[in-house]
Amino acid sequence: MLGTGLIGSFYTDSLHSNRGRDQVRVVYSRSADRVRDFAEKRNIPRFTTDMQEAIDDDETDTVIVALPNHLHEQAVMASAEAGKAVLCTKPLGRTADEALRMLEAVEKAGVFNGYLEDLVYTPKTLKSLQAVSDGSVGKILWVRSRETHPGPHSDWFWKKEFAGGGAIVDLGCHCIEIARNFIGKDIRPVEVMCWGDTQVHPIETEDHAIGLVRYENGAIGQFEVSWAFRGGMDLRDEIVGTEGTIWLNHWLRTGMEMYTATGTSSYVAEKAESTGGWLFPVGDESGALGYVEMFTDMFNAIENKSTPMETFYDGYVVNAIIDSAYLSMQSKQWELVNLPVWRGRENVESVKSFREFDDQHLLVKEEKMPNGKTKLILRHKQSGDISERISD
Ligand SMILES: NC(=O)c1ccc[n+]([C@@H]2O[C@H](COP(=O)([O-])OP(=O)(O)OC[C@H]3O[C@@H](n4cnc5c(N)ncnc54)[C@H](O)[C@@H]3O)[C@@H](O)[C@H]2O)c1
Repeated sequence: MLGTGLIGSFYTDSLHSNRGRDQVRVVYSRSADRVRDFAEKRNIPRFTTDMQEAIDDDETDTVIVALPNHLHEQAVMASAEAGKAVLCTKPLGRTADEALRMLEAVEKAGVFNGYLEDLVYTPKTLKSLQAVSDGSVGKILWVRSRETHPGPHSDWFWKKEFAGGGAIVDLGCHCIEIARNFIGKDIRPVEVMCWGDTQVHPIETEDHAIGLVRYENGAIGQFEVSWAFRGGMDLRDEIVGTEGTIWLNHWLRTGMEMYTATGTSSYVAEKAESTGGWLFPVGDESGALGYVEMFTDMFNAIENKSTPMETFYDGYVVNAIIDSAYLSMQSKQWELVNLPVWRGRENVESVKSFREFDDQHLLVKEEKMPNGKTKLILRHKQSGDISERISD
């Protein structure tokens, strides 16, 4: 385990309570005190302040990169060189160039690679993806994904050279990959339009952004990210299909709502802003955020020599979309997504589909009215004329 911060702790705790046979055997952090403390608390036999030593350790078969964004490439390159499987947290790189170098390195070395995009593995998301793949909501037209909170917990996130950007690279990576999963990972993201601004924090990067990603089949992925949002962490997805809709709320309404007049001294949930009044605690954070299913998929795939749901290739596509979002924020135009390596489909069918009514008409809309009658709005195929009919 490389890193002993927020995500290093979540990952280790999820792993140790998960399949039961996966164990962190060596942990690296640059601080000697922190790494010793981390190892002791979690029964990890060895700890070090030397990253290479942790990677080269005889018992390390899989390296988990839980370090700040600017260290992902170094850690991945060293793991590939050592011939070890490597799982990297999000975002894969600070830019698509960085991500592509990592992808090429692991593939050249022939090592297993997994992109730790936990939010596509939440039980709700997996069930929704199943509903989409079995056709329950028709063709996916629009996926709106939001992650907003009051801002991250460590200094490096706020520095462009370390993080690679602001809320887009930090949170947008999740939203973009969630939308890709629903729209279809084999559908090419074509172009991006993005607004972003620095509204409340005195930083160089954006603390609020909204973006649209247009896919080749006409579907739209919408990301909404903010480090300026108040009220905790808002994680929501909306999936709109031609035949149905799915709404997901992952954090502020997970089924437990609690009011305390006195306030609580207990931990409430990640990024919770208050400990009194109405609270939205999360019973099982690792489960709700997808860590449990994510590591199960990764380690099963390693053992079965198969491909996990999320690989470095996915991380690279996400980085390419983010690069275009940053370009669009500056240019205020749609910006093409530059994907020198594309492994999905080409020339896909559009999601657009119109309903036939009869030989001469298409059905625009059908609605039951308060008087019990049904109104039909029709469009004449030749003239384009729009008319209405009322039936009992
Ligand atoms: N849901 C998720 O998937 C999720 C959530 C949070 C963070 N992350 C990602 O995990 C990574 C780490 O984020 P975090 O929240 O754990 O950060 P953090 O600040 O809590 O922890 C970072 C760790 O890296 C160490 N570190 C910091 N600077 C270093 C340096 N220059 N050299 C060596 N070590 C250094 C810190 O000591 C700490 O151990 C980031 O890439 C972040 O985007 C993912």
